[in-house]
Amino acid sequence: MRLRSRATPGRRRMLCLWLLLLTLALLMLALSDLLQRDRSIQKPAPPRAPLRRFSAPSQLEVFLDSRDPALELGVDFAPLKSLQEDQLLLVPSAQGTKSAPQRRRSYKVLLPAAAKGTAAARTQTRGEPGTASGAHMHGLHSDMERAALHKYGFNEVVSERISLHRTLPDTRHPECLGEDYSESLPSASVVICFHDEAWSTLLRTVHSVLSTAPKHLQEVLLVDDQSRHGHLKSALSEYVSQMAGVRLIRSTRRLGVGGCRTLGAAKAIGEVLVFMDSHCECQKGWLEPLLERVAQDRTRVVSPIMDVIHWQTFQYNATQWPVRGVFDWRLDFFWESTPQLQHEDPQMAVLPVRSPALGGGVVAIDRHFFQSVGAYDPGMLLWGAEQIEMSIRVWSCGGSMEVVPCSRVAHLSHHHLPYTFPDQDLLERNKIRVADTWMDAYRKIYYRRDTLAHFIKQSESPNITERLRLKKSLGCRNFHWFLSAVYPQLYVPQDRPSLSGELYSVGTGRCADYPSGPGLQGGPMNIAPCSGTGSQHCDLNSEGEVRWGSAGALCLDVEEDRVVLSRCPTHRPTSSRLQWNFIKLSGQLVHQQSQLCVEAVKEGGLLQSGSGSKNSNPSAGGLFLRQCTHLPRQQWHFEQLVAPKGA
Ligand SMILES: *[C@@H]1O[C@H](CO)[C@@H](O)[C@H](O)[C@H]1NC(C)=O
Ligand SMILES: *[C@@H]1O[C@H](CO)[C@@H](O)[C@H](O)[C@H]1NC(C)=O
Repeated sequence: MRLRSRATPGRRRMLCLWLLLLTLALLMLALSDLLQRDRSIQKPAPPRAPLRRFSAPSQLEVFLDSRDPALELGVDFAPLKSLQEDQLLLVPSAQGTKSAPQRRRSYKVLLPAAAKGTAAARTQTRGEPGTASGAHMHGLHSDMERAALHKYGFNEVVSERISLHRTLPDTRHPECLGEDYSESLPSASVVICFHDEAWSTLLRTVHSVLSTAPKHLQEVLLVDDQSRHGHLKSALSEYVSQMAGVRLIRSTRRLGVGGCRTLGAAKAIGEVLVFMDSHCECQKGWLEPLLERVAQDRTRVVSPIMDVIHWQTFQYNATQWPVRGVFDWRLDFFWESTPQLQHEDPQMAVLPVRSPALGGGVVAIDRHFFQSVGAYDPGMLLWGAEQIEMSIRVWSCGGSMEVVPCSRVAHLSHHHLPYTFPDQDLLERNKIRVADTWMDAYRKIYYRRDTLAHFIKQSESPNITERLRLKKSLGCRNFHWFLSAVYPQLYVPQDRPSLSGELYSVGTGRCADYPSGPGLQGGPMNIAPCSGTGSQHCDLNSEGEVRWGSAGALCLDVEEDRVVLSRCPTHRPTSSRLQWNFIKLSGQLVHQQSQLCVEAVKEGGLLQSGSGSKNSNPSAGGLFLRQCTHLPRQQWHFEQLVAPKGA
C-alpha cells in the first residue's frame, strides 16, 4: 500500500490512534444493540406485516375508532388510530408504481383466500374505454355473472369490462349550457361512503368526480364503512395513494349510511358537503349548479337530477325533467315525475324545483348547516329511511330542498333479489324512528300501512330522546305544517273505522289486491290472499272515493264491467264514476253511477256476463260490477289490522 510505504513513525502513531477509535466505536455499537435486545425481550414487538410506504401516509388513511361516544353526537373525534395494514398484501403491478395514469388500466389483487399463502393472484385488466351506449344489452351470460349479481345486486362482470373513465352522453337541456356560475363558488368535499362495493363501480365513481368537477373540488373523501372484501383493503389504499385530492378513512365499526356520512362530514374540510353513493357517474358540469344554489342560501339542500345506470347492462338512461323526490305513507322514498310542472318557457328547464324530499344518492348541503340541523340520526341502523328523516327535518327546521336540473348524476340501479334483503327489520326500525320523531299524530297513518312496524313498536320503543331534544331546541315546525306547506299533494287518508283497512271478501275469503310499489299508474284489481302487512290497505273517504296504495293516489274506478284502479283526480268534486257507497248491513259495495255491486271472482271463476268484453279475462279473476244480490261474493268487510286508536 502506498500509505505504508510512505509512513513515518509520527504517521504510524496517528494510524494506531485511529484504529483505537474505530474499535471503540464498534464496541459501543455492539453494546447498544445488546441493550436494544434487552428492551425487546421485556416488551415484545408485535409481528408486523411488511408495510408498503405510501407517498403521503399521514394524509392517506386514518382508522377511526368510532366507538368514541363523541361520534354519537356528531361532533368531533379525538383518538385516531395509526395506520395499520391487515390481511392483505399488495402485489406491485408489473408496470411499476410511479405515476397514476400508467397504473390505471391494470392492477393485481390478492384475494382473501390467496392472502393466506397461495400465490393465486388475480390480474384484472381494464377494458377499452367504452361509452355508455357500448354496454352489453342482454341477460346473464354465465355463472360468473349470476354470482356477481348475487354478490352485488348488479352485473359486476359487465361493469368490469367498461372503462373506469367512460364519459356519459350530455343530456342536459341546451339552456343549461349557457348558464353562468359565480367565479367564487364555495369549495366542496365529496363524501363517498362504501361498504363492500365492487372495485369497478367504486373507482368509476371516484374518477368520474375527479374528471368532471376539478375546479371547486376540495377533496374526495372515501369512507370505508368496515368493508370485508379483499380488494377494498391495501389494494385500494395503494390505488388511492396515487390520486391527488383523494383521502381514505376507515371506520373500525359498522356505521350504516347515516353514521358513515356523519363521520365523513366531521373529517371534511370543504365548505359544502356532497354526499354521494359509491356507484355513481357524474355528468360534465354537475357540481357548479349545485354549489351556486347552496352559496345563495346556506340552508338550501340540493340534489342533481338522478339519471339511471341499468344494473344489468350498465346502460345510461336520462331521467325526464321535471322530477322531484317524495315519499308515501309507508315511508318509502321515490322520484316522481311531475308533468304538471312542465312548461313551454325554456327558462323553466333550468329553474330548480322545490322537492318535499331528496334521495340519498347525491345530496349537497352546507357543512355548517349540516351540523347545526342535526347531521344524520345516529340512532338509525345500516340503511333505509335516513333520507326521509333528513328531508322532513330540513324542511321543518328552517331549511329547504330542491332538485337542480342543470346538474345530472347517474346512479346505478340495483336489482333486489328477495334473498339479498336481510335487513327488513332494521329498515322498519329506522322508519319507526322517523314516524315517532317527526310525524306527530299522523304516524298512525303510517302504522296502519306498515303492520310489521306496528308489531315491532308493540314490543319495543325507540329511544328518540336526543332527537326530540334537537327538534325542540331548533324550534322545528310540526308535521301538519310540513303537509300543508311543503307537500300538499300527499293525500291524507281519513282511515275511518269500518270504512278503511283490507277489503275482505266473505265469499272467497280473500282480499282485494293490487301490486304495491311506487309509480304504478293503475290497472285491474285482483283478488288475492290477505297479506296482513298493510299492503292491501284502502280507505273509503267522505268524498266517496276508495283510495288505494301507500300514497293514496290511486282510486277505485270502473272500466266496462271490471273494477280497476286509476290515478285519482286532483280536482273536486269527485266524478260520480269514482264514488262508492258501502252498505254496512249487507256488506255491499255499490258503484254510485251505475248502482251495481262489486263482486269477487276467484281465478278460473265463471263469469255469467261480460265474458266477451275486451277487458274481461274469465280465468284471471278479480273484481267485477254485477247486479246487486245477497250472494256472499258480493259481501265485503273493511278489516282493520291496526285498531283506530292504535300505534
Ligand atoms: C329508460 O327510462 C324510461 C323511463 O324513464 C324507460 O321507459 C326505458 O325503458 C328506460 N330504458 C332503458 C334502456 O332502461
Ligand atoms: C335514551 O338516550 C338518552 C341519551 O341518548 C339516555 O340518557 C337515556 O338514558 C336513554 N333512555 C333509555 C330508556 O335507554
